[in-house]
Amino acid sequence: MKMFIDCDPGVDDSVAILFALNRPEVEIVGISTSTGNVSAVQGAENTLRILKLAGMEGKIPVCAGAEKPLVGEVDGFPDFIHGKNGMGDVELPAAEQKAVDMDVCDFMYQKACEYEGELVLVSLGRMTNLANTLAKYPDYAKKIKRVVSMGGTIYSHGNVSPVVEANIGGDPEAADIAMMADWDMTLVGLDVTLKTHLTRSDVDKLLRCCLPEKKEMVSFISEELKYYMDGSRRQNYTMEYSPLHDPLAMVVAVDPSVVNTRKMVTRVECGGTWCRGKVVVDLREQPIEGRFVEHALEVDSRKALNILFAAFQN
Ligand code: RIB
Ligand code: CA
Repeated sequence: MKMFIDCDPGVDDSVAILFALNRPEVEIVGISTSTGNVSAVQGAENTLRILKLAGMEGKIPVCAGAEKPLVGEVDGFPDFIHGKNGMGDVELPAAEQKAVDMDVCDFMYQKACEYEGELVLVSLGRMTNLANTLAKYPDYAKKIKRVVSMGGTIYSHGNVSPVVEANIGGDPEAADIAMMADWDMTLVGLDVTLKTHLTRSDVDKLLRCCLPEKKEMVSFISEELKYYMDGSRRQNYTMEYSPLHDPLAMVVAVDPSVVNTRKMVTRVECGGTWCRGKVVVDLREQPIEGRFVEHALEVDSRKALNILFAAFQN
């Protein structure tokens, strides 16, 4: 499977990337970043360090993208959950590899053309880079095989407002453009990610059972998750686990059988206060103008976790 990742690493992004790097059938052909958990430049730096940790330095091009959402400005970073550096304040050694010096839209389009009809686009952050590329290259969507995106919520509560999830809420206009694009898109949102619980004992067990050659990667995951899990507790004092966002989306990209989905006409609310960034689905017979997007609504979370862990054990 040829894969392109757009992300904002981010503790959970980095776990998702490391999982994908450890799946033999996945070939990552490019990674782009946008502002979100950290700045796009910091996200690219983090990605390069993650690639070095995985022994993939110099093998996958990385490009820093949008530093601002389509509308408005960046309103601070969620360092209480991802740390100041976006990796739970764990410092990985710097890489020699540098980010490519290219406009991110050109980079994304170039990869889509190179692997036309084959590329699975995994979106783990705001959809700003996707929207900008769709605007610059109207045939971009047609070249992508399918899109799997961590974003949104239909029935669950939100995580940045009562009804809004962070990736969509961070750039609602971009997400709405992505929903309207002519591609096959699956949203893996809070309806399923909040039900997929990672516990400290899961991580400790993985540390004990992983392959020796993967120990360094798992140790890094374990360290950065300490901060992330504490962050979950800072948000909700009773929480004894961390919800798994981006890694679940990545597992779905590799094995869609872990979720049940439903296709619904979908738009994103771009106005309002509490609802700005809400994913809106219309089940009426004569719905609003919108395209069908597939939403993950149920998850076999044990199976998803087993798939995630197996990548470091086999
Ligand atoms: O709402 C969860 C999403 O927001 C994840 O992608 C996480 O990395 C943060 O960006
Ligand atoms: Ca993310």
